[in-house]
Amino acid sequence: MNWQPFDSNKSLSIHAAETLLNSIQTNPRFVLGLPTGRSPLGMYERVVNECAREYRCFRDVTTFNLDEYAGVPRQHPGSYFTYMKRHLFDHVDIDPRNAHLPDGMAPDLDAECARYENEIQAAGGLDLTFLGLGRNGHIGFNEPGTPFDSRTRVVELTASTRAANAEFFPDGEVPRRAITIGIGTILESRAIVLLVAGAGKSDAIERLRSRRVDPEFPASALWRHSDVTVLTCAR
Ligand code: GLP
Repeated sequence: MNWQPFDSNKSLSIHAAETLLNSIQTNPRFVLGLPTGRSPLGMYERVVNECAREYRCFRDVTTFNLDEYAGVPRQHPGSYFTYMKRHLFDHVDIDPRNAHLPDGMAPDLDAECARYENEIQAAGGLDLTFLGLGRNGHIGFNEPGTPFDSRTRVVELTASTRAANAEFFPDGEVPRRAITIGIGTILESRAIVLLVAGAGKSDAIERLRSRRVDPEFPASALWRHSDVTVLTCAR
């Protein structure tokens, strides 16, 4: 695991954006795993600014988001579909058919999970996956206790995760369930970059640094992968 500390969120974001842009320049048919949350916002902003200059960045790129709320319409301001449109997809030349998120409104959610997992495999698997880190160590929406060989599936969100995301649902209707790719799916990504920014993450960083691999701290599964970079910033 390659640890890279940064003094500011800005420098972390610039580095993450460069990693992303270099990857898709080297291989224009790259397959990316993409996160939501606050930590990647600076990275997306930088990517959008860079692509505004060279507006052919994402033409043949395929993306798969890590997760999406269940029972939340795509048009809802709190959905990850809306987040991705607002922060990336509406500003770059990605083909919407290549920008994948699980459909949290699918009539059969289990079938939707199987379809999503198959779609990732059909695209040749994830080349590079960016992850955020939940305070309880979750990656995607893989909460503590998730088996490391888990696949895309419906999950119940913990109270702490619901509280952390409550501000995006001001009507108080914070979703209870989500679809997430599994830890097994994540570990099959050829490379992984974990973005950890913010003062509230110091305990989670310390737990990860301890190298103790424990399903009660899902991010510790990343010690089982040979190409993980962790970008940290305490602010
Ligand atoms: C949500 C997302 C995760 C993300 C986490 C941390 O729960 N589903 O994928 O990593 O939030 O978000 P933040 O970067 O805002 O701390």
